[in-house]
Amino acid sequence: MPARKGKRATAAPRRTAARKAVEAVQPAARQRIRVTVNGHPYEADVEARTLLVYFLRDTLGLTGTHVGCDTTSCGACTVLLNGEAVKSCTLFAVQADEAEILTVEGLAKDGELHPLQKAFWEDHGLQCGFCTPGMLMTAYAFLMENPHPSEEEIRVAISGNLCRCTGYMNIVKAIQHAAQEMAAR
Ligand code: FES
Ligand code: FES
Repeated sequence: MPARKGKRATAAPRRTAARKAVEAVQPAARQRIRVTVNGHPYEADVEARTLLVYFLRDTLGLTGTHVGCDTTSCGACTVLLNGEAVKSCTLFAVQADEAEILTVEGLAKDGELHPLQKAFWEDHGLQCGFCTPGMLMTAYAFLMENPHPSEEEIRVAISGNLCRCTGYMNIVKAIQHAAQEMAAR
């Protein structure tokens, strides 16, 4: 009958739309990665689109690494990847496969704060503390390369890290203090 023909003609596009809707909510492709974080090996399946910062925070529970902008601007998410400071909101977790990562949780050893952490504490290098993990990791990588920096060099080194409390004076002072402590060891 013509009416049935008409119904059949509209049924096919509806099925196609339904299939597309199902595909849209299906989980994205996952990939197994292996990383060493703060000396501990981890293995996990991650979505290809997962940013490294969310892998660290949500999958590994290492919430010391902060998310301030998600757009590579603030530096709150800075970690060390194979010894180099990187903004972990800028990398996918799959790009860290087989890498060694150091987060702020890995700075203290045997219950003792790292000299940088001590100096930030003693010199009031923080106010709300939101930028502090990123500042510490940037400073850590910087002092590994330049153990005797000038104030100007420190200011350039942390220029990719934003402090919304604008506590830069004491942050710079704390990094100078830590450099002295580390050199004296
Ligand atoms: S959260 Fe990564 S740079 Fe701001
Ligand atoms: S101490 Fe508050 S953002 Fe830096």
